[in-house]
Amino acid sequence: MDAPRPMLNVSRFDIGRLKAFRRFMEADRRMKEGVQQSAKVVCVASGKGGTGKSILASNLATARAKAGERVLLIDFDAGLANAHLLLGLAPAHDMGDVLSGQVTVRQALVEGPGGLHLLSGGVGRPALANPTRRELDRLFKALQPLESDYDLIVVDHGAGMGYGTVTHLAATSTLILVTNPEITALSDAYALYKRAHMVNDGIRVGLVVNRAHSEHEAEAAWERFQSVSKRFLGHTPEWIGWVPFDNAVRSSVHHRRPVTLGTPDSSAARALEAVARWSPIDLARTSRPFYERARKALR
Ligand SMILES: Nc1ncnc2c1ncn2[C@@H]1O[C@H](COP(=O)(O)OP(=O)(O)OP(=O)(O)O)[C@@H](O)[C@H]1O
Ligand SMILES: [Mg+2]
Repeated sequence: MDAPRPMLNVSRFDIGRLKAFRRFMEADRRMKEGVQQSAKVVCVASGKGGTGKSILASNLATARAKAGERVLLIDFDAGLANAHLLLGLAPAHDMGDVLSGQVTVRQALVEGPGGLHLLSGGVGRPALANPTRRELDRLFKALQPLESDYDLIVVDHGAGMGYGTVTHLAATSTLILVTNPEITALSDAYALYKRAHMVNDGIRVGLVVNRAHSEHEAEAAWERFQSVSKRFLGHTPEWIGWVPFDNAVRSSVHHRRPVTLGTPDSSAARALEAVARWSPIDLARTSRPFYERARKALR
């Protein structure tokens, strides 16, 4: 004889709990999708001026856009921006116009090589060079919706460790540190690396030695950086690679066309393409959206 089938006895209370559970699962799924859809964010900084941040950031953005990603380059060297010059663009609007409410952030974007989008930082705007907490908050709030429009956001920083840069360091998952082989550049890069870890202990940092005259010179710089950071901080950044001193870069500045597009076979272009393939870039997401974290870091 068949065993009696248990009676399904579902009370109203159980149905209520089931519905609540379903709502929870749906919210969880949507949240996970939202996190996956938000852009990866990579900051490019150095401490010292003129190390090649903008060259690296503009070529990184171009190379990734060329490879099919939706890329936004933000020139956060606000007030002294020059990424638009390196990309041969003449934006009608910049971050300053977004801050003043003259245009929306989407209206301020311009399309560049490979289909990348640029938000220019504005030139000759002293107010942008030292933004207040309130201004930064307004800017981050305006940038927030863009996170779901792109696969990758590359932020090109100015020299130094201004408030805006440190806030980005606190919020980002990934930083590319650009140095030159000279001791002055290495020392400033070390100071920035140390600061980045002070404000963000989970940050992933990769080092690029730019404008090296030989592999030997680049490796010596890396060895020096590595041994100092290991000794005094107990950890080191990751080695991304080196970019040779190459007149093709100077010529690319002159022609306002990224070297990875203009002379892709030059040694600098090949090295910059390799930087763009640094695998942690593919993982450069935080559990919560970047601009949410940045706004929180302001408080
Ligand atoms: N690999 C290289 N080979 C030759 N010249 C280079 C190389 N990288 C950069 N340069 C030169 O250095 C100049 C400064 O580079 P870049 O503007 O990228 O520096 P930066 O770090 O962004 O400067 P800033 O701190 O002012 O923002 C470039 O205009 C270019 O002429
Ligand atoms: Mg620059």
